[in-house]
Amino acid sequence: MLVLGIETSCDETAVALVDEGRHIRANLVLSQIDEHRPYGGVVPEIAARAHVEHLDRLVAQAMAEAGAGFSDLDGVAATAGPGLIGGVMVGLMTGKAIAAAHALPLAAVNHLEGHALSARLSDGLDFPYLLLLISGGHCQLLIVEDVGAYTRLGTTIDDAVGEAFDKTAKMLGLGYPGGPAVERAARDGDARRFELPRPLKGREGCHFSFSGLKTAVWYTVKKLGGDTQRLPRQMTADLAASFQAAVADVLCDRTGNAFASMRARHPDANDFVVAGGVAANDLLRARLGEVAGANGFSMTAPPPALCTDNGAMIAWAGIERLSRGMRDPLDAPARARWPLDPHAAKAPGAGAKE
Ligand code: KG4
Ligand code: ZN
Repeated sequence: MLVLGIETSCDETAVALVDEGRHIRANLVLSQIDEHRPYGGVVPEIAARAHVEHLDRLVAQAMAEAGAGFSDLDGVAATAGPGLIGGVMVGLMTGKAIAAAHALPLAAVNHLEGHALSARLSDGLDFPYLLLLISGGHCQLLIVEDVGAYTRLGTTIDDAVGEAFDKTAKMLGLGYPGGPAVERAARDGDARRFELPRPLKGREGCHFSFSGLKTAVWYTVKKLGGDTQRLPRQMTADLAASFQAAVADVLCDRTGNAFASMRARHPDANDFVVAGGVAANDLLRARLGEVAGANGFSMTAPPPALCTDNGAMIAWAGIERLSRGMRDPLDAPARARWPLDPHAAKAPGAGAKE
């Protein structure tokens, strides 16, 4: 089975071809960073227009790279949400058009399911496993039992962890995109220089909170005079490192509670996956690997290029669904919001992001 995957839910236009033997035959990611940089973040209208401008060419390029024609495909997978709705519509409509024109089955893929199953593409992992999904829009702990079978143990009650990285980068004048910039700056920093809060650490349950940490970074920057001028390089590095250490502590603490919930439900399970854009961070990978080991779990993290948004994970989710006979109609809707576990209880105090 060979499937074309299309991803357009945020600021990456991505197309890939993947086969059911887990071979990635082409994987193209066109970042719109330069188009959004002047605004310090993703502008939805600019993103949607850029997807329109680049997607057709990228599909042709990916097909050529894979040495495949449309007649070689067994299906088309496109992200149908959640995400910036204009961009999602561009990718989903393109996927539908290709499916209709070549009489191929369509998989309207949940972007979060793409991240959730990415470790099965990279490492061939079996179900069930515990998943920490950390990205620009999400921070969730889920038990993954099968394709389409997700139980959410916890989520963020305010900001997503990637959002906290991006906002911290902005406050420190490190630019956009923020996650990699904070990680780079933190490399020369002293993580003990600034004392920052660890929201919800030590508390029961698996929910997260990052807005207090973000505010603490803001007050620290302000106190140091960094809101009116650029902080000295070492101070920026120390604050970036202190922030990253606080995030690591919180993620490890909350995931620690999730290991216990996973054991209660699946006593023999010992796989833990960390996925999503923030999982590209080396320090977080190392710290989470340690805490997994201490709890008797073995951690799998897809390579960084499969953690940040990409078309291969969407093509793979398409393969998983289509090979189980789960195909979608050509009027499948684009969705701005689409939870993986529709039965999950609302997080206490959760706002619109839920
Ligand atoms: O999964 P993703 O590519 O897009 C969403 O679905 O949101 O995640 C993007 C997020 C951004 O917030 C970005 O700053 C963050 O992942 N990110 C990182 C790193 N690389 C990307 N955060 C921390 N360290 C990194 N190395
Ligand atoms: Zn993503």
